[in-house]
Amino acid sequence: MEIIHFAAECYPVAKVGGLADVVGALPKYQCQAGHYAKVVMPAYDTRFMHQNSWQNDYQGYIYLGNLELPYTILRESTNKLGYDLYCVYIQGLTDRKNIYSEHDDTERFFAFQLAALDWINQWQHLPDILHCHDHHTALIPFLKQYAWKFQKLRNIKTVFTIHNGLYQGWFSWNKLHYFPAFDTWKSGLLDWAGTINPMSSAVRCADAITTVSPSYMRELQYSSYGLEILFQQLSYKCYGILNGIDYEVWNPATDTYLDKHYTIDNVNEVKAQHKQEICETFRLNPDNPLIAFIGRLVHEKGADLLPQAMGQAMYETQGRICFIALGSGSSQIEYELERLKIYCPGIFNCYIGYHEALSHKIYAAADFLLMPSRVEPCGLNQMYALRYGTIPIVRRVGGLQDTVQDIGEWEGFGICFQQPNVLDIIHATHRATYLYYYNFDFLKSLRQRIMTFDNSWQNSQRKYEQVYRKILQEE
Ligand code: ADP
Ligand code: GLC
Repeated sequence: MEIIHFAAECYPVAKVGGLADVVGALPKYQCQAGHYAKVVMPAYDTRFMHQNSWQNDYQGYIYLGNLELPYTILRESTNKLGYDLYCVYIQGLTDRKNIYSEHDDTERFFAFQLAALDWINQWQHLPDILHCHDHHTALIPFLKQYAWKFQKLRNIKTVFTIHNGLYQGWFSWNKLHYFPAFDTWKSGLLDWAGTINPMSSAVRCADAITTVSPSYMRELQYSSYGLEILFQQLSYKCYGILNGIDYEVWNPATDTYLDKHYTIDNVNEVKAQHKQEICETFRLNPDNPLIAFIGRLVHEKGADLLPQAMGQAMYETQGRICFIALGSGSSQIEYELERLKIYCPGIFNCYIGYHEALSHKIYAAADFLLMPSRVEPCGLNQMYALRYGTIPIVRRVGGLQDTVQDIGEWEGFGICFQQPNVLDIIHATHRATYLYYYNFDFLKSLRQRIMTFDNSWQNSQRKYEQVYRKILQEE
């Protein structure tokens, strides 16, 4: 099968969160399974773009309203990612350092989608599947179906994957003129609650909807920021497929960001060395259990609960616990964490910002990884933690509840809690410290056991393949 993935992020080209990890890995494993998968994304001004060689594959132009925009399709010429990577360059729109949060994101991603389709429209042959990820590419199923200039693409099947239902890409009807001429009686498919809502249109127009865990698929039916009724009524074409992780990137035996490598045979010794190093760098007490948080500092991740929960846990254990946080996001949370650092030297420290290498070092060094998410479509961090022998402490929600089982359950291996609140987090950290101080041998054997789990892409890849086959057979 020939599959084209459209996305705003792709690791290592441009990454903000897990979307990049998924789009960077899934196509590679699809190619390994014998498919022909490609990625099409905007050409940002990132380091990867400057450090690699690019071939100019196509040049064309599109109209966004009455604005004529020339575009270029750049192909990474060495195929170093294991699949063909195409970046759409539109001067003045895509070529920014920031991937998101620009005042004109609607225009940037609309133009990207139009250019990508315009290019595919010129091909001699047609691909089997257009696979769109999140709202930045959510207009593609509508455009390819109803825009007159893309008539040739009408029979191609589309899959839309929701990585995060919160961001739906709404914009006002006064931007309707951005659309190329289309069957106007279909405009209802763009509308949701009086605005143009790309995600809702993709949910209605795509042949299959997937999201990144079975639990999140169920959660969307009663909590999806206004789209609940769509997920209930269209459940016949909705699938929850758990993400995998890229074992070639996330492997403590070969990880290029680590100076000391390990396997299940020496995890306990080498983890202690990594912990020692991180504790020295961040001036933390290495004798205490080290609990890490890595992620975006936003409400969805429960990051606003961290300063109070961590502060109180440190007080209640009389300083016999350590926390380290790596992340960026809400300035209020960043400020509170920075302040906590001043009051709790030796037991709390943080790095505010994005730091890929440090994240790998923390997964390797930490005893526990805390994820108090309010919403977690899948979550990759807990799977990275497992791979690095780090015990996950997670709230039972979305993909976290599909991937982590509590140690109190049969064959359990993590610490789970029910509610995203300070008390539940503190209780969970008490359970972690108990394990560390009073059951260290069990904790050591747990580390070895969780490292053997298979969360690789091979399984998930097969599930996507089944969805593709199903929609290709439907007429
Ligand atoms: P989300 O995509 O919602 O942010 P995921 O758990 O799917 O959550 O993926 C988060 C990814 O981003 C992981 O690879 C994690 O290690 C990485 N990450 C998040 N914040 C940072 C940061 N500040 N520095 C380095 N890596 C980060
Ligand atoms: C989103 C979700 C996260 C998921 C990731 C990759 O960013 O918030 O839970 O793991 O996408 O699918």
